[in-house]
Amino acid sequence: MCGIVGYIGSRQAAPIILEGLRRLEYRGYDSAGLAVMEDGRIEVRRDVGKLTNLERLLAEQPVTGHVGIGHTRWATHGEPSQRNAHPHLSMNGQVVVVHNGIVENFLSLRQELEAEGVHFNSETDTEVIVQLIERYLAAGYDLAEATRRAMHHLKGAHAVVTMSLQQPGVLVGVRIGNAGGLTVGVGEGEMFLASDIPAILEHTRHMTFLDSRQMAVVTQDGFSCFSLDGTPVTKAIQAIPWDTVAAEKGEYRHFMQKEIFEQARSVTDTIRGRADFERGRITLENLEISPEAARRMRKLFIVACGTSWHAALVGRFMVESIARLPAEADIGSEFRYRDPIIEPDSTVLAITQSGETVDTLAAMEEARSQGARLWSIVNVIGSQAQRLADGYILMHAGPEVGVASTKAFTASLVDQYLLACYLAQQRGMADGRLRALIDDLARLPDQVGRVLDHAVEYEALAAEFYQASNFLYLGRGINYPIALEGALKLKEISYIHAEGYPAGEMKHGPIALIDEHMPVLAIAVRDRVYDKMVSQIEQVKARGGTVIALATEGDEVIRDKADHVVYVPEASPLLTPVLTALPMQLLAYYIAVRRGCDVDQPRNLAKSVTVE
Ligand code: AGP
Repeated sequence: MCGIVGYIGSRQAAPIILEGLRRLEYRGYDSAGLAVMEDGRIEVRRDVGKLTNLERLLAEQPVTGHVGIGHTRWATHGEPSQRNAHPHLSMNGQVVVVHNGIVENFLSLRQELEAEGVHFNSETDTEVIVQLIERYLAAGYDLAEATRRAMHHLKGAHAVVTMSLQQPGVLVGVRIGNAGGLTVGVGEGEMFLASDIPAILEHTRHMTFLDSRQMAVVTQDGFSCFSLDGTPVTKAIQAIPWDTVAAEKGEYRHFMQKEIFEQARSVTDTIRGRADFERGRITLENLEISPEAARRMRKLFIVACGTSWHAALVGRFMVESIARLPAEADIGSEFRYRDPIIEPDSTVLAITQSGETVDTLAAMEEARSQGARLWSIVNVIGSQAQRLADGYILMHAGPEVGVASTKAFTASLVDQYLLACYLAQQRGMADGRLRALIDDLARLPDQVGRVLDHAVEYEALAAEFYQASNFLYLGRGINYPIALEGALKLKEISYIHAEGYPAGEMKHGPIALIDEHMPVLAIAVRDRVYDKMVSQIEQVKARGGTVIALATEGDEVIRDKADHVVYVPEASPLLTPVLTALPMQLLAYYIAVRRGCDVDQPRNLAKSVTVE
């Protein structure tokens, strides 16, 4: 997943692009670059590594110009290097391009262009795009038509922004498939293009989002939109309700830290307007189903990747327990390869913070092709997963910048709980039972805040465990997915190997791993599997293991069983995962900080995976 920013207006382009790239750096940070155009020349500055390297280069070699494009790269084809960094200039220097996606047929295109005498400067697939555009410009087409024709040669998913000396007052942006979005920002006498909302939010709230196979032709005074077959397209301009402060770190050291501590508020925002505590009713503003259709529902497939898949595993419990609707949770990248049996009246729910995860989007398209009803739970407004769905629930978590997902995860748990209650309501659940479920939600933000108030305890635990080489997370029932999530959080930001395991499986092999070097975090809250979890803790202790128990406030018994105990408030078993997720986030965060890791931009990762 790469970050793209374009600007055209009366201000200097470079500072605006640089600031926009900084807000997108979480999408990929192997290299960064920008190009500006003025007085008949295109100046390119690019460097390997983080944005700070590009900033230093620009300080040494400044550029001026009122139109420009920029890019932060998460390397796919061609190792991270200065020569592979975007933007890429065409051979005769007339055209420059930034690109997100993979040109799946780039080898054959490269050979074809080389046979025409084109010399390539990089190992990237992107360079074939800029050379193709140049080919059509040389044939006399304008930039928009040259770009449109060039895009027809490409296989794969792409987001492309380009500009040319032949049309200095024009930027062209194109989106094909799900290689990350392309947003058009409408300013006062200036226009923007960006991969994601935070890049341009400080300049405008008025945006529109390209769909697949659409092109925007942007000048300082506005834009026009076309489909790739040349047909004009009308795009609605949306007012984005996020504020720029919400996209900034504020007094926190890391975005991840800020987003962890925002969760009392984000959970409140997720619930707000949807749970009517007076009437005991649920309303989902962008997802409706009639009582008749709800009663006809036969199965819900919940598909997602990574942390969102862990949320799906929890949601399955919620939907089956509350709505009594058969449900299953599928990994997005596996779903379409198992030939799923999607019967009539089945529904597929995609969970995706970014709304752009290509494997999740592909699962949605598989569902669509089999005639399933398509719902999504997304955080990024205007994202593909929102626009593909028949109905959607926004997480309302605000921009999540840290690569490790935290507040979006808990928001997606709450959204699934709201959905389960809504389906139960539409399928005729008795008012009293429904009201009790909704009342449980009312207490949740306060319970979240109480867990976060004990953050210092996780700093202390991190001091003891940050040098561990391995970690085991055990959970059972609805908290088994939280064990998986805890392990993923630790892995992805501290680089410690960790496994989440269903506690009942330990005796079937993994207990052989237990010794004094293998810390175990066991989720042992007071629920129907508490006794079994206590027994599991005793089995680990009997083999010399060190146990951190995650227990329910007031449980003194567990103190005699485990080496360390951290607590969460008593809550409805179906909502407890929202609380048990928090210690997982806090422990991973403080361990990663202790280890000096790059918490917000862990190595090899990107915020949204738009390549398969
Ligand atoms: C979570 O901390 C990871 N960053 C990753 O597993 C993420 O959840 C996954 O890539 C799915 O992203 P999405 O929710 O945007 O689809």
